[in-house]
Amino acid sequence: MSALYGEDILRTDLLSDEALELILSTASRFEAVLEAGGRLSNMAGQMLATLFFEPSTRTRLSFEAAMQRLGGSVISVADPRTSSAAKGESLADTARTVAGYADLIVIRHPREGSAREAAEAVEVPVINAGDGAGQHPTQALLDIYTIQKEKGTLEGLTVTLAGDLRYGRTVHSLSHLLVRLGMRLFLVAPPGLEMPKSIMGDMREEGVEITETTDLAAAMRESDVVYMTRIQKERFEDPAEYEQLKGAYVIDRALVEQAKSGISIMHPLPRVDEIVPEVDVYEGAAYFRQAANGVSIRMALLALVVGRE
Ligand code: NCD
Repeated sequence: MSALYGEDILRTDLLSDEALELILSTASRFEAVLEAGGRLSNMAGQMLATLFFEPSTRTRLSFEAAMQRLGGSVISVADPRTSSAAKGESLADTARTVAGYADLIVIRHPREGSAREAAEAVEVPVINAGDGAGQHPTQALLDIYTIQKEKGTLEGLTVTLAGDLRYGRTVHSLSHLLVRLGMRLFLVAPPGLEMPKSIMGDMREEGVEITETTDLAAAMRESDVVYMTRIQKERFEDPAEYEQLKGAYVIDRALVEQAKSGISIMHPLPRVDEIVPEVDVYEGAAYFRQAANGVSIRMALLALVVGRE
């Protein structure tokens, strides 16, 4: 059985190098089958439950597409107002109940640590699809998969992470993997939205070069990839603070034209105003391809945790 059999996927810093390699290779194997017009039935007879207590388009739909592409079935809570959480049920009780219906659970919840709480309450594998401002490991894995596909390698790359590095769970998860892969990083955030100190500490231990700057243009001149993020409006206690910071960084045509030639532009989406639509026509604008890659990576994760890869 693989390194991921029976495991929860809660954070990227808990994934071994072996697991990372296995997820990427399984995703490309599944993708090749689908691209060739083939069908897969690895998850036949298996039931996935998706529990989403926060808005989602890509993450939930790509998990559900992944499960169905593998011949499995899906039950879901897409709107928390329609589940018993609205009656005051604890997450642990909801998880225990759902574990009686499904073979694995994918959960998104506004509270940091929520996926771990659910995982501790049940025996079936639990996959974190975003726990508040905590982590979003499956997004980070599809981001790495995308970088590999776009660049043809994961070696010797320089990556800029820009936007809301404080509350952005995607960059929290992704940064751990990037430094582990030896990438050189630029971190670009408006004042007050810098990468949390604890994550900076972990990253510095890997001994890679990390530059914190407010100069996005300069960072993009030296980067193979720029990963832009949305200012996470829903995490601000003070709406005035959000109003002041929104629009701090915007990638437009002028910025792309000054950037390193061939730069790949990524974004976990949804975007609000941080990449203007005129940028979409550039060959390096990878964000919709990135979103599509979510299906292959999630197929790999679903199959691996139940030993059906
Ligand atoms: C991200 C999220 O939910 O953290 N979206 C996603 O899953 N693709 C990013 C965001 O909402 O800004």
